Amino acid sequence: LGVDYGPDDVAPRRRPRDDVHDAAAARDAFRNAVDTDPAVAEHRAWAQQVVSARSGFVPAIASPLATTAEVDDVVARAARAAAAWARITPRDRGRVLRAAATHLAAARTDLVATMVHEAGKTVAEADPEVSEAVDFAAYYAAQAELLAAVPGADFRPDGVTLVTPPWNFPVAIPVGGVLAALAAGSAVVAKPAPPTPRCLEVATEAVHAALDEVAPEIGLDPAVARDVVQFVRVPDGDLGRHLVTHPGVARVVLTGSIETAEMFASWRPGLAVLAETSGKNAIVVTPSADLDLAVADVVRSAFGHAGQKCSAASLVILVGSVGDPATVTGERFRRQLVDSVRSLAVGPGTSLSTVMGPLTEPAQGKLLRALTTLEPGESWLVRPRRLGGAPLESGRLWTPGVRDGVRPGSFFHLTEAFGPVLGIMSAPTLDDAIALQNAVAFGLTGGLHSLDAEEIAWWLDRVEVGNAYVNRHITGAIVQRQPFGGWKASVVGPGAKAGGPNYVAQLGAWADAADVP
Ligand code: ALA
Repeated sequence: LGVDYGPDDVAPRRRPRDDVHDAAAARDAFRNAVDTDPAVAEHRAWAQQVVSARSGFVPAIASPLATTAEVDDVVARAARAAAAWARITPRDRGRVLRAAATHLAAARTDLVATMVHEAGKTVAEADPEVSEAVDFAAYYAAQAELLAAVPGADFRPDGVTLVTPPWNFPVAIPVGGVLAALAAGSAVVAKPAPPTPRCLEVATEAVHAALDEVAPEIGLDPAVARDVVQFVRVPDGDLGRHLVTHPGVARVVLTGSIETAEMFASWRPGLAVLAETSGKNAIVVTPSADLDLAVADVVRSAFGHAGQKCSAASLVILVGSVGDPATVTGERFRRQLVDSVRSLAVGPGTSLSTVMGPLTEPAQGKLLRALTTLEPGESWLVRPRRLGGAPLESGRLWTPGVRDGVRPGSFFHLTEAFGPVLGIMSAPTLDDAIALQNAVAFGLTGGLHSLDAEEIAWWLDRVEVGNAYVNRHITGAIVQRQPFGGWKASVVGPGAKAGGPNYVAQLGAWADAADVP
């Protein structure tokens, strides 16, 4: 963020003029320091290797299934594998997961390059996603071991789990679902989101390598080891429905839209669906906030991966004087926000200088409306534009947008857009801001920027979200430290959070000790 307090009559300077940050000089000094740092040079070489790997990009190798008989065969093989896998002790399942962590880490370059290619991610977004997948493997390995230790109750694996992940985290989310189900003793059918099949295929290869390696040591029949996790591409439509409603599938772990979760439930009443769905997430900023930090966190939360995270900030709700553009703080917040948003480098994920990459799919429906159409009372602080681009990014590169004056109850207040558009709302008091934040049907993530301990405690008691963050960006939950999950319409099923202590335990059947034969 540049530090510019503006003309004297607009805003007070906190420092004498000659102490004001000289952005150009500071940038050059930083560049020189960075250029001589061997760790940075090494990281750059690695990142360059990742980006170059794109030229060797392999599209998904497995063909989509074409008939119901093929789907039936996959489920039958999964059921056979489930019977064998359920006999493996939780401790030995944990060994497979620990080996998977090692193989996933070894596949980092391939995984990152594939995410850059298929999902349009930047290297900076894709790299931590691999780390998250590795963290899931290590954490769920420990959870598998704990399952065996719950006193007075008996946990029983219960068959085949179908994992259907989204395309926005095409590695970490499916790996988390697959490995949690494995930890619980289920066999898994893993169906990638259609835009990002190779991401899950590469991750599945790493899990297969772990199964191959550990199977002989734990007494798992090598003939079924690879059927413990099957990667299958299934076209949406009748075949997808055949798989979801298959009586051999015990449960579906879905991360996707609320519409998809409802569709699955309507197809097969009684089906166990565990879903983390949509969000319409807001960050509240009060006058006591560190505004520089607030702007940086809002921008990161709103525009990381071009806003295509279920956790992304779609709204910033400005309280009191921060909400009023006629005040010093209100004017300053907006000006710094605009500067910061305009400075985001938009381009292909394959360029290391890109901060915001392309959309994974061309904008349509609600997102296109959010990018192009204002609602009554709104104005563009930064108007989004569609850019040209090489064929790979064609139609998918948008500059970020900021709409001011979003009204309570309007389309943009209540609707998830899932792209690079941020709306600004104003609220007279913190209570009014919380009411706006809680008015949406979803409750996934939310943020507060405030340096007032009473405000923080008040907000934490009242905000209706699964993940509440204070003075931090609201994306990028960390396994174990910030178990991730939703509230209200953002969750379907028991709702234990991914990367948290109860996630694995909800993926099987519990019997009271008295029922155990
Ligand atoms: N777990 C992802 C995040 O926290 C969705 O951003």
